[in-house]
Amino acid sequence: MIGLTLLPILLSGLAVLASPTTQITSSPVTLPFARRMNVTGAHDILRMDQARAKSLRSKSHDAKSVSGGTERDVLRSAVGAAFGVPSTSQGVDYVVQVQVGTPPKTYNMLVDTGSSNTWICCEMDYFPSPTSFDTGNSVYVEYGSGVMLGEQYLDVVHIAPGLSITNQSIGVALIAIGFDDVDGLLGIGPQVLTYGNLFPNATEFVPTVVDNLYDQGIIPKPFIGISFQPNNATQNQNMTITNGELSFGDVDASKYEGDVNYVPITKTLPAGYYVGINQTVTYGSDKTMVLNNTAGITDTGTTLLLLATDALATYQQLTGAVLDENVGLLKITPDQFSNLQSLFFTIGSETYEFTPNAQIWPRALNSAVGGDDSSIYLIVSDIGTPTGEGMDFINGMVWLERFYTVYDTLGSRFGVAKTAGTYATTN
Ligand SMILES: *[C@@H]1O[C@H](CO)[C@@H](O)[C@H](O)[C@H]1NC(C)=O
Ligand SMILES: *[C@@H]1O[C@H](CO)[C@@H](O)[C@H](O)[C@H]1NC(C)=O
Ligand SMILES: *[C@@H]1O[C@H](CO)[C@@H](O)[C@H](O)[C@H]1NC(C)=O
Ligand SMILES: *[C@@H]1O[C@H](CO)[C@@H](O)[C@H](O)[C@H]1NC(C)=O
Ligand SMILES: *[C@@H]1O[C@H](CO)[C@@H](O)[C@H](O)[C@H]1NC(C)=O
Ligand SMILES: *[C@@H]1O[C@H](CO)[C@@H](O)[C@H](O)[C@H]1NC(C)=O
Ligand SMILES: *[C@@H]1O[C@H](CO)[C@@H](O)[C@H](O)[C@H]1NC(C)=O
Repeated sequence: MIGLTLLPILLSGLAVLASPTTQITSSPVTLPFARRMNVTGAHDILRMDQARAKSLRSKSHDAKSVSGGTERDVLRSAVGAAFGVPSTSQGVDYVVQVQVGTPPKTYNMLVDTGSSNTWICCEMDYFPSPTSFDTGNSVYVEYGSGVMLGEQYLDVVHIAPGLSITNQSIGVALIAIGFDDVDGLLGIGPQVLTYGNLFPNATEFVPTVVDNLYDQGIIPKPFIGISFQPNNATQNQNMTITNGELSFGDVDASKYEGDVNYVPITKTLPAGYYVGINQTVTYGSDKTMVLNNTAGITDTGTTLLLLATDALATYQQLTGAVLDENVGLLKITPDQFSNLQSLFFTIGSETYEFTPNAQIWPRALNSAVGGDDSSIYLIVSDIGTPTGEGMDFINGMVWLERFYTVYDTLGSRFGVAKTAGTYATTN
């Protein structure tokens, strides 16, 4: 285990060292954020989300030791052994377009607050230029349903027109399994998650794009704001919906209503390694307890809203939902839907309502997950483990779509606010 207690010191040191001279005034910097559905891809979203939850929970954050052979050879065979399975597509991707290198090349990158290395695919498409520097390190990152092994370069990353990060660490993938539909991944989680991912320099932390944007004086605050409007019925399953915005440097006040409520990142591990928070979940007007004040995470790399197995059982009992084995989601009848009540999420001193409409999978997208058009599926699913594991929920994208959220990387805080979409009835 790495000394987590050292981290705040390390990070506040960075804050002191940063003496921004070229600070931009028009903050925040925003990037369009899109959801892409691929109806020909794998439909088992729950399986993907559970695999991810398992991987996030088990992350040791130890530096890996590699002995014998070249690191890359050893890793290559390890990758082959661990992932000798056909790669799959996510079916649902949340992506931004980012440019890398000179001349700039555009990549569709998964946005991931649950990991912190940024990488692009693949080696044969990446041409080292005067702005790129091969560090000699390999990068190896495991994900719930995939793995990436590549070479570490420092290069220019253009986050938005005119806003270029110099010497951003990027992995240039030699092997990327489980990421068929994207060109890379933008890891915007805590820097601590990069520990142990480089070889041979296994004890180095790798600054994320947010760290570098801040350290290079491009943004005034090391904040990431996430905004995504809920889906609506006019949108079919093949559409790329650019309903979202990722903002760097500050919150985007035009994207939320009222105030942003900040809470500290939870101290409970493993949730505390990520954008983790304490949260209580209740159901209905009589506030039946579903999940009593416990730690979990918010995560752009998870599609669904995952609750600990026992909490999910309570929810199922309250709603009458049954698992549709083919789709992998809970299903309710129209009668049960008309009786469905809100879930309430208490985060810090505030409570956020998650309406019945928010709890159902967008009906226009039923076929995209292998369901039938007339059924009603729920987006609340089983995380795969009981409460008490230090990660008892994952508020994935379906949850993030209903609120505006902020991750303050240096302040180690998470912020949440209501949006125009919080009470939307579009599903
Ligand atoms: C959709 O998924 C299939 C199967 O994984 C893949 O071959 C195809 O390239 C994907 N399409 C798009 C547009 O990403
Ligand atoms: C590894 O870290 C050492 C010490 O910080 C540094 O001198 C060296 O350049 C690094 N090597 C690579 C390949 O990054
Ligand atoms: C980028 O990193 C390389 C290698 O460490 C260094 O030589 C170069 O001066 C750096 N460039 C900038 C703009 O900081
Ligand atoms: C649905 O989305 C479309 C395209 O984004 C938009 O034009 C329309 O106003 C939306 N409808 C509702 C009811 O929100
Ligand atoms: C979506 O795309 C797939 C593959 O290109 C195609 O087979 C299917 O008919 C499309 N569905 C709709 C509703 O456009
Ligand atoms: C979160 O909950 C845990 C367990 O109840 C508690 O120890 C901790 O102080 C709470 N707050 C934070 C910020 O971790
Ligand atoms: C929730 O947990 C608190 C503190 O452990 C306890 O006092 C309370 O009774 C619990 N509430 C329910 C409804 O279980």
